[in-house]
Amino acid sequence: MADPETIDVEALDEAQARAELDRLADALSAANQAYHAADAPEISDADYDAMKRRNAAIEARFPHLKRSDSPTDMVGAAPSEGFGKITHAVRMLSLGNAFDDADVTEFDRSVRKYLGQDGPLAYTGEPKIDGLSLTIRYEGGAIVHAATRGDGAVGENVTANARTIDDIPERLTGAPEVLEVRGEVYMSHADFAALNERQAEAGAKTFANPRNAAAGSLRQLDPAITAARPLRFFAYAWGETSAPLAETQMAAIERLADLGFRTNPLTRLCEGPEALLAHYAEIEQARATLGYDIDGVVYKVNDLALQGRLGFRSTTPRWAIAHKFPAELAWTRLEAIDIQVGRTGALSPVARLAPVTVGGVVVSNATLHNEDYIAGRGADGSEIRGGKDIRIGDWVQVYRAGDVIPKVADVDLSKRPKDAAPFAFPETCPECGSEAVREEGDAVRRCTGGLICPAQAVEKLKHFVSRAAFDIEGLGAKQVEAFYEDDQLPVKEPSDIFTLRQRDADNLTKLANRDGWGETSAGNLFRAIDERREIALERLIFGLGIRHAGEVAAKDLARHYGSWEAMTQALDTARPAAEAHRAADLAAEAEREAAADEGRRARLAEARAKAMAEHAVPEEAGEAWADLIGTDGIGPTLALSLSDAFANPEERAAMDRLVAHLTPVAPEAQATNSPVAGKTVVFTGTLEKMTRAEAKARAEALGAKVSGSVSAKTDLLVAGPGAGSKATKAAELGIETIDEDGWLELIGGR
Ligand code: IVH
Repeated sequence: MADPETIDVEALDEAQARAELDRLADALSAANQAYHAADAPEISDADYDAMKRRNAAIEARFPHLKRSDSPTDMVGAAPSEGFGKITHAVRMLSLGNAFDDADVTEFDRSVRKYLGQDGPLAYTGEPKIDGLSLTIRYEGGAIVHAATRGDGAVGENVTANARTIDDIPERLTGAPEVLEVRGEVYMSHADFAALNERQAEAGAKTFANPRNAAAGSLRQLDPAITAARPLRFFAYAWGETSAPLAETQMAAIERLADLGFRTNPLTRLCEGPEALLAHYAEIEQARATLGYDIDGVVYKVNDLALQGRLGFRSTTPRWAIAHKFPAELAWTRLEAIDIQVGRTGALSPVARLAPVTVGGVVVSNATLHNEDYIAGRGADGSEIRGGKDIRIGDWVQVYRAGDVIPKVADVDLSKRPKDAAPFAFPETCPECGSEAVREEGDAVRRCTGGLICPAQAVEKLKHFVSRAAFDIEGLGAKQVEAFYEDDQLPVKEPSDIFTLRQRDADNLTKLANRDGWGETSAGNLFRAIDERREIALERLIFGLGIRHAGEVAAKDLARHYGSWEAMTQALDTARPAAEAHRAADLAAEAEREAAADEGRRARLAEARAKAMAEHAVPEEAGEAWADLIGTDGIGPTLALSLSDAFANPEERAAMDRLVAHLTPVAPEAQATNSPVAGKTVVFTGTLEKMTRAEAKARAEALGAKVSGSVSAKTDLLVAGPGAGSKATKAAELGIETIDEDGWLELIGGR
């Protein structure tokens, strides 16, 4: 007989299923034991999760075989944070925001433009529930697991807690074999008030608002506590499904209602933006009487086939948007302005406020952006707040919109103290005393201290260990600050993290014997660090904290270059071209400034030509530079910033020290089974069956790289009517060229 371990869940017979459930219960229990008691984990988190998933899937197929001590019911068994982790089969994304009517009209316009559709489009409009999102996976009609959104890719396993929510059916009949139902967990106003009353009576902590109460209740390690808290759930979306729910958003919501979920009764079908705005007004009117918090209205393209064509940006869908209600406002006193120094040296002013409640949350800090903002000037030099500046002692109006950091909206000049002076923005770094300069065209003043500035170094480290970068468990912002100051085990730069274990072993006083640390936590930390020696290339690039190199750009770079060596080599080769680019930019800038002065102008034009000539660049440098800025998503600003970072000897040495400890892993070519995966494609000329944006997004979804320029690296040119120089260059280089129909045939209507 075949080893049951190797058989697909669908193919197991009853005896095999029973044997598998026994084996998995033992293995999972041993893994927990090793993790907690022995501090010597024997299997990876991924293997652990896979075993738990297999166990749950078998239980879903053979519910009567579920053991009384089923691992599915072990809450918070695995990771140290208390909850197991669940990797979402389909990422849980957030929504872009619209704040006024014009944003909504623009949303509709951009959707239709992307689709190349002139006529009106139908949308659904429904309240945006102010709670926390939850996904529940059903297989064969039974709950397999439920998870919070987490970082969108990986959430927390809150299955046992979700099961205590009445609005979530335990079993579904007539549902697709696999169905992930998504929606919002929330608490009603009445239940929130009663809960806070009970909490206060018991001397326990009360919650600031229903949202916090819902989050605190769902994320309880003890499901009995969750069960005692009246949580509710509205279903409004789905993740993986083995068969489509319906053809439209509206019909899919109705299907979820038929399956037994609660769906929001204010969900309506609206033809075009005017109808959406009318529905928004209706929901806003009803807001106070709903009995639960909402913070806006969500609009979604109704046709699911069109949703599919529109797809996603990095974190938000193109087919939906949240139209937020206006932010709440409150007046309070500005007590002080502190200057914080960020990872790129930016000096950020922060308002310290007399605490005030804004929309149920106590606010005592607000961002003041930059010195122009304080002075009453916008980014383009125009007046903001009617040109009123902000002074310490002022009476200011603050607002918050959703999770956004509070901001200062207005100043009441009638209440300004007589002795209040305009705020003098510091010209030296408050942390290291280095000069702080503002570059031409930059709203931000920056500390020039670089790596000698402790604030920059600590912020860089915090960024390095952050979630989207190295995400080292047990090494958060607080620990980084402490290690930075530590005499015995200092961590001054990222590479120091990877020598911690060895340095600790060499020390007389071990980390495990320090206050706040023990054998387990120190062991866990070293293990978590070791787990990150192998690291995705894009995480490494993002983690370096280079200005302008955000998560998306890091991904683009990783995909484009494929390895750390290829990227560093290309940046080194391109350096002379980067310098020439900057020199030409500076010369052009000077020329613009001198435009009024004819005599100087001639001299400057000469200077510019000279600058360019002096920077005559080797051909290979020009090519490497063109290849870099031709990479989709990489503009000259980021390219220069990258080039500067890699050409700076101290920064480069720190990177080399770091990478010596690491094995960067190349990004997996997405959709490797597609005929264009890994190919570099250029679109040129007019496309008739889809817009350029759609063509690009679809090509990328199939694993292709889309570039704006033809070079020796181009694999395929898709040329529509009117193709010009790119087609000529492709022909010269002998690059395969096809038309739009050829492209559609190649990707097989995918
Ligand atoms: S749709 C792919 N519909 O808002 C996007 N989200 O800002 C799926 N939310 O994370 C989300 N009410 O937690 C959608 N009716 C609604 C919603 C809603 C609340 C939350 C959700 C999401 C967040 C995005």
